[in-house]
Amino acid sequence: MRDAEAAVRESYEQVPYPSALQHFTHPDHLATLALLHGLSPAPPQRCRVLELGCADGGNLIPMAIELPDSEFVGIDLSPKQIASGVAQVEAWKLTNVNLRTMSILDVGADFVAFDFIICHGVFSWVTPDVQQKILDICRRHLAPQGVAYISYNTFPGWHLRRMVRDMVLFHTENVESPDERSARAFELVRFLAGTTGDASDAHALFLRSTHEHFEEYADRPHYLMHEYLEQTNAPLYFREFASLAASHELQYVCEAEAHAAEADNLPAAIAAKLHTYTEDAIALEQYVDFVVNRAFRRSLLTHDSSRLDRTMVVSRMRQLHASTTTRPAEAGDVDTRPGVSVTFRTERGKTFTSTHPIAKRVLAFLASVAPRAASFAEISTAGGDEAVVADLLHALFWSGVLDLHLAPPACVSTVSAFPRASLLARRQADAGLFVTNQRRRVLKLDDPFARFILRQLDGTHDRASLVRLLDHEAASARLDLRVDDQPVRDPMRIPSVLQAILDHHLKKMAEYALLVA
Ligand SMILES: C[S@@+](CC[C@H](N)C(=O)[O-])C[C@H]1O[C@@H](n2cnc3c(N)ncnc32)[C@H](O)[C@@H]1O
Repeated sequence: MRDAEAAVRESYEQVPYPSALQHFTHPDHLATLALLHGLSPAPPQRCRVLELGCADGGNLIPMAIELPDSEFVGIDLSPKQIASGVAQVEAWKLTNVNLRTMSILDVGADFVAFDFIICHGVFSWVTPDVQQKILDICRRHLAPQGVAYISYNTFPGWHLRRMVRDMVLFHTENVESPDERSARAFELVRFLAGTTGDASDAHALFLRSTHEHFEEYADRPHYLMHEYLEQTNAPLYFREFASLAASHELQYVCEAEAHAAEADNLPAAIAAKLHTYTEDAIALEQYVDFVVNRAFRRSLLTHDSSRLDRTMVVSRMRQLHASTTTRPAEAGDVDTRPGVSVTFRTERGKTFTSTHPIAKRVLAFLASVAPRAASFAEISTAGGDEAVVADLLHALFWSGVLDLHLAPPACVSTVSAFPRASLLARRQADAGLFVTNQRRRVLKLDDPFARFILRQLDGTHDRASLVRLLDHEAASARLDLRVDDQPVRDPMRIPSVLQAILDHHLKKMAEYALLVA
């Protein structure tokens, strides 16, 4: 093994990187984007997926549970991480995942074609020969209509982050222990932010926002450790990445976060100016990165022999489902009369208005069934005009207002008499704070009541039974029953308090796509 690989392997043996489902890499998402570009992807329900640098398989295992007829292969340098993944595979008795300890550099002809190749959080942290090999694997082992996903740190955003990296590397020079290295890095960032007082120059703002960024990850020191303190961290400009891909006979398809690199999603005057700078699609996205100071990309590639066509085609849209977390900003019925302006709010708090009756009907309908995804046929019926609905869904998808799916998430929007959560979410709630919902997002469940309730949702308990279970936990002091921070001891009050807690959490779980049929 080469020195660089030995160092990477040692680093992940010492500080493993607990991986988790990345919805942008899910076959449903990759296949949907492929379809929207005119490719004929393998169905997510029956596909072959390869992940390079899969750590402990935390991304592939939930996919393999959800898609039992698809096959998943993951490789990673670190035996410890692979061993932990293999233990999970065995615990789940999965026969469709194969996790192997091996180097990306050793992938050979025995790896047959994959419909989707994923390489998340690896490309920037490996040496140029491994980067070249990753692209070579995509060229050789991607099925003709397949899509590869590669994420990487990018400039210009990483120029600033590199300054932080330089500072924390300087401060941790000659420190061996990973724990001590992260603690010292954290301490320096906190100290530097503290030196800024109430200054508002660019450097002061940057130091304070860096501190906030570190605080966000305070409970995940492995992330900061590998992001800032690894021996190799080589960001590159998007245009360089696209050229590298082209030199391996691969072409850029789009970003996995589809709307994020679209010039036309910027304010109209900025978008118009960027279009005067260039007509080249790659250069245009490079300009977008300059505007938004992008630091991370998740780029999709395919063979350069494929002809991509991103125009809206109704027959493609008919194959899809749509789901959204966008809601009408005001409670109550949406006024769908022509000309009446209605405001909608996205999950990230962005608002927009529409006066278009079909748009309002479609968004109101999707919000009413959320988090469930609705089929194109259902949405067309709600909207009233198939061709307009197709155009609308396409436009709303590219502007980040809704998700499209070839394999819609299996969730329900209401709480049934005997509510049920997936076995995966229940087991995760048993093991820790992070659970995967049906929209393939990882949620942090801080509340011990929520975790306890989720664990019981195997479809055999109704609300009365769940209240009894909660009562038992509270009586045994395993759950601390409080209202307004005061303990609840009055036996007459306890049932109603528990009922209210249960109702609250079940409603939230339905809203957060944790409930299944
Ligand atoms: C930052 S972690 C990302 C893990 C996972 N993909 C995720 O995003 O959660 C990088 C992973 O790449 C693996 N890796 C680095 N170089 C590798 C190589 N040459 N061959 C195989 N795996 C490699 C490391 O062992 C580590 O598990």
